[in-house]
Amino acid sequence: MRPNKIFIIALLIVSISTAMAQNRVTAYSYLMPMPASLQYKEGGLKVTSAFAVGIKGHNDERLRAAVDRMLNRLEMRTTLATSRKPPADAASAALVIECGGPGKTIPALDEDESYSLDVSGSQAVLKAATVVGAMRGLETFLQLLDGSKDGFVIQAVSIQDKPRFPWRGLMIDIARRWQPMEVIKRNLDGMAAVKLNVLHLHITDDQGFRIESKLYPKLHQMGSDGNYYTQAQMKEIIEYARMRGIRVYPEFDTPGHTTSWFVGHPELASKVGPYEIERGWGVYQPVMDPSNEAVYQLLDGFFGEMAALFPDPYLHIGGDEVEGKDWDANQNLQNFIIQKGLKDKEGLHAYYNQRLLKIVQKHGKKMIGWDEIFHPNLPKDIVIHSWRGPKSLAEAAKKGFTGILSNGYYIDLMQPTSEHYLNDPVPENTTLNEAEQKLILGGEATIWAEWTSPETIDSRIWPRTAAIAERFWSPRNVRDVADMYQRLPVISVQLEDLGLLHKKNPEAMLRRWIGTPFGGADFIVDRLRTLISLVEPVKGYRRGSMQKATQFTPMTRMVDIAQADSAAARQFASEVETIIKADSLKNGVAASLKGVIAEWVSIPSTIIGIDIQKPNIIAEALPLAGDLIQTGMIAQEAIAWLEAQKTPSAEWVTEQLSRLDEAAKPKAAVELMIVKPVRELVIAAADQSRRASMSADEWLKYVKTKAAPQKTPR
Ligand code: ACM
Repeated sequence: MRPNKIFIIALLIVSISTAMAQNRVTAYSYLMPMPASLQYKEGGLKVTSAFAVGIKGHNDERLRAAVDRMLNRLEMRTTLATSRKPPADAASAALVIECGGPGKTIPALDEDESYSLDVSGSQAVLKAATVVGAMRGLETFLQLLDGSKDGFVIQAVSIQDKPRFPWRGLMIDIARRWQPMEVIKRNLDGMAAVKLNVLHLHITDDQGFRIESKLYPKLHQMGSDGNYYTQAQMKEIIEYARMRGIRVYPEFDTPGHTTSWFVGHPELASKVGPYEIERGWGVYQPVMDPSNEAVYQLLDGFFGEMAALFPDPYLHIGGDEVEGKDWDANQNLQNFIIQKGLKDKEGLHAYYNQRLLKIVQKHGKKMIGWDEIFHPNLPKDIVIHSWRGPKSLAEAAKKGFTGILSNGYYIDLMQPTSEHYLNDPVPENTTLNEAEQKLILGGEATIWAEWTSPETIDSRIWPRTAAIAERFWSPRNVRDVADMYQRLPVISVQLEDLGLLHKKNPEAMLRRWIGTPFGGADFIVDRLRTLISLVEPVKGYRRGSMQKATQFTPMTRMVDIAQADSAAARQFASEVETIIKADSLKNGVAASLKGVIAEWVSIPSTIIGIDIQKPNIIAEALPLAGDLIQTGMIAQEAIAWLEAQKTPSAEWVTEQLSRLDEAAKPKAAVELMIVKPVRELVIAAADQSRRASMSADEWLKYVKTKAAPQKTPR
């Protein structure tokens, strides 16, 4: 054993230092978001325990706190303890910050977030007009930290940076399922690390009213099961965000999505109560009664309270998914529509929004709402928040309205990072002119909470949101997917330094799954980890048709451990492409892939052999273990046909494709992500006689097209 181990360690050291040396030579830094302008220079600034930060020009508590947080992370990553004392001569420090001024006291949409960063072998100089600009630069500085043969260094660079969009947000749904303070705080840290600057809290919905109202305490007392933020706690969140240069603004979704309001105040609804907090998911009918003056009185009081609590100028009134069946069924409201000349229920909704607008404005706020609130009579300083798509956003912009995009950034839908990354609020082929383009302020990633617990939320937000943050910050032409995927895992690990649990929690959940130590538990956890690394939760809204859940359902099943965008499956797909494009599989071209597959097909027997009393859990893993062995063996056979340069029989091909169709069907609400590339191997084996007449790229395209399933299997 011993010599073997030493040999492996030596090999590891050689390959790690080779990778590091390559980084230095090619000067590739794992930055996300990429700066607007970046030039690499020779060498780098050594980081030793003498490292110190000097602040020249403006210096305040927010800036010093940001420097302290940066030093905490720098020390963690380097294992160095720095002195932490500001140097006597600020200009001689390893990192000199030249800050022009405090910027806005409360982070604002027009905050100057630009900065420049020059790093040479002797010093780093960070210049910014505002404290928030300096904070953005400090995040870049930390991302430039890397190991080298000579110890830790900050890569030498010259960076000029500023954001593409001023509104770069994350929306967290705290209404459907409760998310406590620590979840919000650690995610604010993650946001700051990737230069996001807006936290949108979706505070009320059918399933919960999550803020204390001193004027109308029945709202939170009866609408939240006791899970709400006191005003003091919300102030703490707002201050925590302010210290990181992040705006916080609230959404109170009305007139629909309001069941939780009606538990304490049934008189506001369009249908006679009583009401109970909604526990399930969907579009529900309870809706405010726009003909009732008591509705506007309560909203006036409540919005007044909230306007005082949240310093941000924007207040989101929701406005989405109003089907209005309770309006149709209410004769008083039908009369009201006629009396006011409102035409129909869309007119009634518009009337309600006009009334709300006056209340929002009275309390000094600007209104923001989902696409449905759009009406040409609204003032031009409202913001249209588009969940329906870029088209509705563009239509609003053409009429002179500002907007932000969330369609395409619904991270709860478990889509791959690349799809979100390539989704652009103002795409290259936009039909908007220059002036209209400026009306698109940016976008927000949205984490809706139907399938999200405090334990799983981080892994649903990160790391994919880092790539979305790059879309909002970096120039439009930064859109190389392969390059993004090279940087993302590095940033993902760094995000853990901030206390984010997107990598830790799935591991803990996996251990919980298998449970108390017994013979071989670690071995089984290892095998299950590999199996789960090859699956992804079903995408879009499919999970809702496969599993029933309420806001109390534990989110601790296999699908909750599984992550969107399987890196292992992506790697496999890429290796399969290489093999398909190869002229021949002689000389062990497929050796590494065969090794990987051999490991996979050995997993199921371990899992099938598990002898523990956890019936639900093993029942979830078993069919997938079966699919894995089946799929792996088909891949092995297809590679064997390709290696032998022999064409399999038509029957063999038909049979394997039909087995793969079965394996492609989701089980336990997860999908095995290696099925598609294995289909490609089968097609490549079946049609290999055509290979010679095509270029490698044509051949790959041919195989991929033919292997693509005709329809999504259900
Ligand atoms: C929404 O997804 N209904 C805003």
